[in-house]
Amino acid sequence: MMKNSNTVIKLLLLAMIATVIIFTTYMPPQSQYVSQISDIPIRPTSTKIQLSILNKTKIVLLTYPQLWGFRFTMGRLGFINAGCEVTNCLLTTNHSYVKDYNFDAFLVHTPTQRKGPWILPNRRPDQIFIMFSTEPPDHMPRLDPFEDYFNWTMTYLPESDIPLPYGRIEPLSGAPNTEIERLGIQEHIRLSSVNPAKGKTKLAIWMVSNCHARSNRMQYVRNLQKYVDVDIISNEGKCGGQDLCPKKRKGATCYDIIEKTYKFYLAFENSICRDYVTEKFFDSIGRNLVPIVLGGANYSMIAPKHSYINALDYSPRQLAEYLKEIDQDDSLYAEFFWWKPFYRVVNLHQTNKESFCNLCAALHETPAEKRVAKGLQKWYFEGSHCLVKPKFDST
Ligand SMILES: *[C@@H]1O[C@H](CO)[C@@H](O)[C@H](O)[C@H]1NC(C)=O
Ligand SMILES: *[C@@H]1O[C@H](CO)[C@@H](O)[C@H](O)[C@H]1NC(C)=O
Ligand SMILES: *[C@@H]1O[C@H](CO)[C@@H](O)[C@H](O)[C@H]1NC(C)=O
Ligand SMILES: *[C@@H]1O[C@H](CO)[C@@H](O)[C@H](O)[C@H]1NC(C)=O
Repeated sequence: MMKNSNTVIKLLLLAMIATVIIFTTYMPPQSQYVSQISDIPIRPTSTKIQLSILNKTKIVLLTYPQLWGFRFTMGRLGFINAGCEVTNCLLTTNHSYVKDYNFDAFLVHTPTQRKGPWILPNRRPDQIFIMFSTEPPDHMPRLDPFEDYFNWTMTYLPESDIPLPYGRIEPLSGAPNTEIERLGIQEHIRLSSVNPAKGKTKLAIWMVSNCHARSNRMQYVRNLQKYVDVDIISNEGKCGGQDLCPKKRKGATCYDIIEKTYKFYLAFENSICRDYVTEKFFDSIGRNLVPIVLGGANYSMIAPKHSYINALDYSPRQLAEYLKEIDQDDSLYAEFFWWKPFYRVVNLHQTNKESFCNLCAALHETPAEKRVAKGLQKWYFEGSHCLVKPKFDST
């Protein structure tokens, strides 16, 4: 069983490498009409991007005033700063471009588009309408009003036309190839003097803003707190927490403090939906912390084995027992860090640059591959298999 899942990770990694190779050599077939959500992301290739149109600025109109969490600079500068190969795109929220139909791509932020699609009667077939979302389905309006409206999708789901992941963990050249090799490294760490627990005085921390999330993470944490200490950090002390990271100490600075003090970080998602895993996970695993995850991603596919703990594998009480055991034995804690020299964590800011670079390059492909996004409701909602308020008992 352990061997199997390791093989799958290896296969996945191979697939990732293959994808990179395909990215540079494969020219996608010119399908006339894609009748379902295509599970083949659009992969811009330099062969398809004709130099003559590189001089033409592609105007990308965004319906949402800010790219939450993404910090992608507006205008052309974002594409230049991101180091994109193709930078001749202009990202704007200036809706005066709508009036003249003077745009090449229309990026619709579906989570806030609650009134249904913008009707643009003189829309041209060459104008690419794109569903843009970093939110899981339970933070979205229904998508059936958008049937036949979009050409491409740009979401956190990996099968989107332009995937927009919250992060990624990549193997480096020395990463172990077999489970035996991996276990050897883990054992070596355990017996070594490497001690990531050194100086840490507290067990676990949860940073939260929404106390009533669909994932019912609050109940999990409350029951976990019956057996072990879990500190809660929140704005203005919401969810029974402390306001330990006021605005100016947000983000990286707050993590600097947390990783020195705490052993475990609760990377509990607000929704438990397929493949929905956010920066909570990638930011914490990239630090001197062991994330405890609660979410709908298949974490074994996206992270090295024994680099995190999955709360859904335990009841809150069982998890507490496990954490106590690790807390009492620094070498057990150290084992969770075996993978650090062999992998690289790519965070949200990097992956979103890549996604927007892909978008700009794809818009410069010619002739544009004709695509219409169909069955969005079924794909995004039913296909996400979200759990609604699962029960996490205290026994
Ligand atoms: C792009 O524009 C530049 C300057 O405007 C011009 O020198 C160049 O020939 C153009 N390239 C193509 C491929 O049209
Ligand atoms: C929006 O674009 C129009 C036309 O290009 C321009 O006149 C106007 O100043 C822009 N508005 C803002 C707020 O940038
Ligand atoms: C997660 O991925 C592993 C490895 O591919 C697989 O064995 C397992 O069935 C998957 N779990 C779920 C819940 O899909
Ligand atoms: C984009 O979608 C519209 C609406 O379905 C369609 O008419 C148009 O041909 C599509 N354009 C491309 C380039 O796929």
